[in-house]
Amino acid sequence: CGIVAHHGLVPALPALLDGLERLEYRGYDSVGVALDPGDGGLPSVHRTVGRLPALVAALPGEAHGATSGIGHTRWASHGAPVAANAHPHRDCSGHVALVHNGTIEDASRVRAELAVRGHRIATEVDSELIAHRIEDALPAVPDLHAVVRAVALAVDGLRGTWALAVLVGGVDGVVLARRSSPLLVGAGGGRLMAASDELGLGPEITEAREVPDGHLVALAGDVLWFDGQARPVPAPSSWSLGARSASVDRGSAPDFTAKEIDEQPAAARRLLDGLLGRLQGGQLLEDLGLGAPARIRLVACGTSGHAAEVTARVLAVEGAIPTRVVTASEPDLAVPEPGTLTVAVSQSGETADVLAALDRWGDPVLAITNAPRSSLARRADAVLGLGCGPEVGVAATKTFTAQVVAGVALALAVASGTGRLSAARLAHLEEVLDGLPMRLATTAARAAGPAADLAEELAGEPGVVFVSRGAGVPYAREGALKLEELTYRWVEAVPAGELKHGPIALLGPGTPAVVVAAKPRGRLAVGIAEMTARGARAVVVGPPEDATLPTCAPSEEPPWGPLEAAIALQLFAREMTVRLGHEVDRPRNLAKSVTVE
Ligand code: G6P
Repeated sequence: CGIVAHHGLVPALPALLDGLERLEYRGYDSVGVALDPGDGGLPSVHRTVGRLPALVAALPGEAHGATSGIGHTRWASHGAPVAANAHPHRDCSGHVALVHNGTIEDASRVRAELAVRGHRIATEVDSELIAHRIEDALPAVPDLHAVVRAVALAVDGLRGTWALAVLVGGVDGVVLARRSSPLLVGAGGGRLMAASDELGLGPEITEAREVPDGHLVALAGDVLWFDGQARPVPAPSSWSLGARSASVDRGSAPDFTAKEIDEQPAAARRLLDGLLGRLQGGQLLEDLGLGAPARIRLVACGTSGHAAEVTARVLAVEGAIPTRVVTASEPDLAVPEPGTLTVAVSQSGETADVLAALDRWGDPVLAITNAPRSSLARRADAVLGLGCGPEVGVAATKTFTAQVVAGVALALAVASGTGRLSAARLAHLEEVLDGLPMRLATTAARAAGPAADLAEELAGEPGVVFVSRGAGVPYAREGALKLEELTYRWVEAVPAGELKHGPIALLGPGTPAVVVAAKPRGRLAVGIAEMTARGARAVVVGPPEDATLPTCAPSEEPPWGPLEAAIALQLFAREMTVRLGHEVDRPRNLAKSVTVE
């Protein structure tokens, strides 16, 4: 979810709506705003399922005059994505309206307590409970400081995470509170604003400050800062905001995903130009201000997790570096060992699971991200930026290939730094990497037609099995994830050797089985034979000689495996989505970045 707030001398709605549009990557199940009518009356609340245009169409004329308001774009966690569960939420009296990013972990206890005290709770959403707790803590005639105190009391004793923006009827100002979930405040152009990230603050805001964890803020005539007990504290330090990209244009592409798939060779080229030549002797690490790590822990979710798996493999193969890949949402039970570098891989830099995982470990943290001004980038000791430009399609494409390139470069630098990777081998691998953008472009050209034909043929299939071996396994997993999130078909992705231990039972006559060609080919051939013997239809992704989806791969498999296959599988998933009539850029139930744990 994403939140935005506005207080100022100018109308609030344009800035709120613009901010919400920029925050849609955090969820798009529903959207809403609450506005202070400015005449001492109750906040007016407007909300709808779906996207902003529906909200804008439903706004009454008087909404446009309000100068103070809050807004929210939702990814449903507690309660179905229906209008009643959309934010802003209100207390019983309608005096309190709030928006919330985060989760209240002890919601059932709080709900029961509020019910005993006579509150009528209208929704299943945990956020509504905070509005009722604020109502309990407010005096009959509140002023701004009373609201700050009431919000502090309301969140005190709650378990969970929150970025909150609160409007109270008859009180001029917006009160904010934060625990864990990011929340920034900025000023400019006759307005004070708060938002979950820099994008949400809008182009007129030139300077931002982060609400410190556990603190509160009031946006009134000025920005007022408070600790968790509502005692005034000095403002934290600020930073200036560079130009934020205007809304992205998809040009002549049919959708952003198509455009971003196409951009991969150029994105890889830019990234490699900045990285090659800095790997020898671990130079890259030195440039990032990091020492040589004894071991590495990679932490990520979803697609970024697959890029982390590739990185871990290169670290192991070329550097014999002890490496673990940790799924961010699963606590790492290993005893912390000194000399560990934590590498957090996240294209958005806002994924709550990744940020929370970092709280459990010590420094140093290196972020591999496409968002160098994100919460993750602020938290990290060093940032390796992907420089891909905005990725709008929810299914990650160009950021995945870029994460692999950045991860591989990092791994080679670490391996070279230890002396285990010789200068000659490094020079050879750099040359292979240097040819990657060209191979990605050739693969895109080669695979486009076959991907469309295959999608046409398989669009009626209920599910697809993906297999590979060795370095190909993360790409089989990534191809499966792309197909699953875009087409809503079931997928099963396993190392080919695991087929016989269960997944083979899924196969029947004609079941599509995508095989990502990788070494050792002989053992992969066994897997294919086992599947076709059960009637499965094998779809090979690899060198053109024997492939249904042809790629352009180097003659000798590099330690990062068949990265080129990723682009062929992205094309296939997109083509199938188009044939099924699903929205390519905004799959159902997903968010580009999930900002709750
Ligand atoms: C969401 C997206 C996935 C993405 C994952 C991690 O679930 O839908 O496509 O891979 O988050 O995102 P991150 O921004 O941390 O890479």
